[in-house]
Amino acid sequence: MINTQFSYSEIFSFINEEEVKNNFVKLGNAYKTVCDRTGKGNDFLGWLDLPKDYDANFSQRIKNCADKLAAQSDVVVVIGIGGSYLGARAVIEALQHPFKPFVGGGRPSVLFAGNSISEDYMHGLLDVLEKKDYSLIVISKSGTTTEPAIAFRILKEHCEKKYGKSAAKDRIVAITDASRGALKKLATDEGYDTFVIPDSVGGRYSVLTPVGLLPIAVAGFDIDKLVHGAMEMREYLLQNNTFETNIAMQYALLRYLLYAEKNKRIELLVAYEPCLAYFVEWYKQLFGESEGKEHKAIFPAGAIFSTDLHSLGQYIQEGERHLMETVISVKNAKNKVAIPYDEKDADGLNYLQKMSMNEINLTAEKGTRLAHLDGGVPNFQISIPAINEASLGELIYFFEFSCAIGGYLLDVNPFNQPGVEAYKKNMFRLLGKPEK
Ligand code: PA5
Repeated sequence: MINTQFSYSEIFSFINEEEVKNNFVKLGNAYKTVCDRTGKGNDFLGWLDLPKDYDANFSQRIKNCADKLAAQSDVVVVIGIGGSYLGARAVIEALQHPFKPFVGGGRPSVLFAGNSISEDYMHGLLDVLEKKDYSLIVISKSGTTTEPAIAFRILKEHCEKKYGKSAAKDRIVAITDASRGALKKLATDEGYDTFVIPDSVGGRYSVLTPVGLLPIAVAGFDIDKLVHGAMEMREYLLQNNTFETNIAMQYALLRYLLYAEKNKRIELLVAYEPCLAYFVEWYKQLFGESEGKEHKAIFPAGAIFSTDLHSLGQYIQEGERHLMETVISVKNAKNKVAIPYDEKDADGLNYLQKMSMNEINLTAEKGTRLAHLDGGVPNFQISIPAINEASLGELIYFFEFSCAIGGYLLDVNPFNQPGVEAYKKNMFRLLGKPEK
């Protein structure tokens, strides 16, 4: 049973029910194309079965490796970019203490590298690693991506100098293709512990493979519960094949219609919890790389409220009307913080004293949703009971499934990313990379 709810009732002031019904056949075909694995890019649908194929041996191998890295490290650096990075970061930041470096908590801090070529970022990271015990997890499916390869070369050398070549081996884990790529060769030559990214799973759909699971387990979170949440969502989505009964079909069709028929070109995924900022980043990559091709698709953007109500809020309320908004609503906070009663009430806040901060946050969310609807911004709500492993697992599978349907509604291949090559070609030419 899933705990995620999707609500779209307010959408009917932007689209009429007939327009939605007229697209049921198209939606049914897109859903069937995903489930029957008959569409463009169908050799990359392995993610559909990841939660089902997860077994106790696989889970134990990941946990053993994670515990070993955790036991020997204050810090574990995850080196990767795009799908080889964002899923792990999204889940870890959602679940960990918001001030983890200050509170410790028994597990290592997970830091990230290889997602930029910033010299100052790398220098700062090396400053930290000088003073801490650390391990490295290097992730690249192709094994040839330049940004993580540069970071790994630098950090590998640092690690070998600090611990000696032989001991460094025990501190490096590679996650890559089963047989191809420079990283696979390096890992085999050096004898690193290695995990495989299945051929049939693309980077941005790989969070439930070792790509996401190992770093998440290192950070001390329950990967079994995460995958179980995804499994619940999988069963629900595969068992319900109509618009009325399937929340991913609802989301995929309605956002597609707002784009195709109502000129809503941008979707803001909004959260009222700062710890979901990287979940928003993960969504941006998932939808941006999956749908954005052939000069089509919604531009996936994001915002964290209340923060962005005091920056983007003005634009959302009154700027160009090409926006739609999808809100991740979290019903319960994990902790309670009372707002104190103040005799003088100089700030005029005593009227809030009986409410929890979370109730005030949810009220801000409701008030904002109504304001944005009045301002002409259609609004969806995805609600979860709380931020935990199970609800994140549900959300991950929900968004992946919706995205695959969305790609087929647009008639694009949701599983390739040909456009990413363009910047690389120029960069390599300008850098004078030797031809092979
Ligand atoms: O979703 C994708 O496939 C991409 O974002 C890749 O994950 C990203 O380009 C990194 O590729 P690789 O894992 O091959 O280094």
